Amino acid sequence: MKFSVTTLPALLLASTLPGALGWGALGHYTVAYVASHFVTNKTKQKFQRILGDDSTDYLAAVAAYPDTYRNTAIGAFTAPFHYIDALDAPPDSCNVDFARDCGIGGCIVSAISNYTTRVQSKRLAAEDVKLAAEMIIHFLGDIHQPLHVENLELGGNGIKVTFGGVATNLHAVWDTSIPQKYAGNATLAHAAEWATILTAGIKKGPYKRVAASWLKGMTLKDPVKSAMTWATDSNSYVCSAVLPDGRNATETIDLSGEYYTETLPIVQIQIAKAGYRLAGWLNLIASGKTCL
Ligand SMILES: *[C@@H]1O[C@H](CO)[C@@H](O)[C@H](O)[C@H]1NC(C)=O
Ligand SMILES: *[C@@H]1O[C@H](CO)[C@@H](O)[C@H](O)[C@H]1NC(C)=O
Ligand SMILES: *[C@@H]1O[C@H](CO)[C@@H](O)[C@H](O)[C@H]1NC(C)=O
Ligand SMILES: *[C@@H]1O[C@H](CO)[C@@H](O)[C@H](O)[C@H]1NC(C)=O
Ligand SMILES: [Zn+2]
Repeated sequence: MKFSVTTLPALLLASTLPGALGWGALGHYTVAYVASHFVTNKTKQKFQRILGDDSTDYLAAVAAYPDTYRNTAIGAFTAPFHYIDALDAPPDSCNVDFARDCGIGGCIVSAISNYTTRVQSKRLAAEDVKLAAEMIIHFLGDIHQPLHVENLELGGNGIKVTFGGVATNLHAVWDTSIPQKYAGNATLAHAAEWATILTAGIKKGPYKRVAASWLKGMTLKDPVKSAMTWATDSNSYVCSAVLPDGRNATETIDLSGEYYTETLPIVQIQIAKAGYRLAGWLNLIASGKTCL
């Protein structure tokens, strides 16, 4: 391979990015748009005010921001908030345990709890409440990416794979490669279109019968327990779909073929669930009821 000055920065960027970004921007935007379809008018007004944005994109516009914030000096402490390192043993055994797995610097479960308390605070400055809202919108997305609820090889970042002939890692395949192969690049327009399809799936399509079950265990009285329900659900896919035949099986085939076909439905349902649960969570915050 020949390296030119124009390809080199991109290659360096690709190899230094840890990939532990959660869904890429496309996934986060899509989760936010799905949620936009299910929030009540009261919720919409409240969060448009908190976020200082009265456009229809008020949730999507900030959904990927915490991935930028974590890369700033002031926001570096939030890096562990994007995941929880489940110390399980996939593919034989998948499980997540808050006491065992939430590190001393915090994790996605403690972060959802913290920012849920903060977004409701009457004493915090407007900018802190805004940051809390942005964190919730982002982390409700991340917690539905199975490899954000897995310790193995830093959530798959250390598992080298190829996708469409391009060298990457398993974490990035789930964050970005699968979503983008299906829905296109990370633009708000592509995300809005994908969200319309998922929303129809919830209202009258394949998810209609199961959507109510996605809300089980959701209560503002216990955000840790609520987030653990979502984390456990997400982590179970590490055994059943991400690495069903062990890590070696993912390293010896190109993942853009049969693996893509088999895992796309899981990515779809996890993005749909994340959006639906985010709407329920924001509705709870705004009115005490999920309203779904
Ligand atoms: C919500 O607001 C929209 C327009 O802003 C309005 O058409 C709709 O009737 C409202 N829904 C409820 C339940 O108030
Ligand atoms: C809660 O969030 C604030 C603001 O980002 C942060 O300073 C604090 O350390 C967090 N607390 C926990 C327990 O995560
Ligand atoms: C995605 O972006 C790449 C690089 O900017 C571009 O070549 C490609 O055509 C875009 N694909 C879509 C579906 O927009
Ligand atoms: C996976 O591959 C490694 C290195 O090639 C090998 O040592 C190991 O035995 C393999 N594990 C399984 C479960 O096949
Ligand atoms: Zn993230």
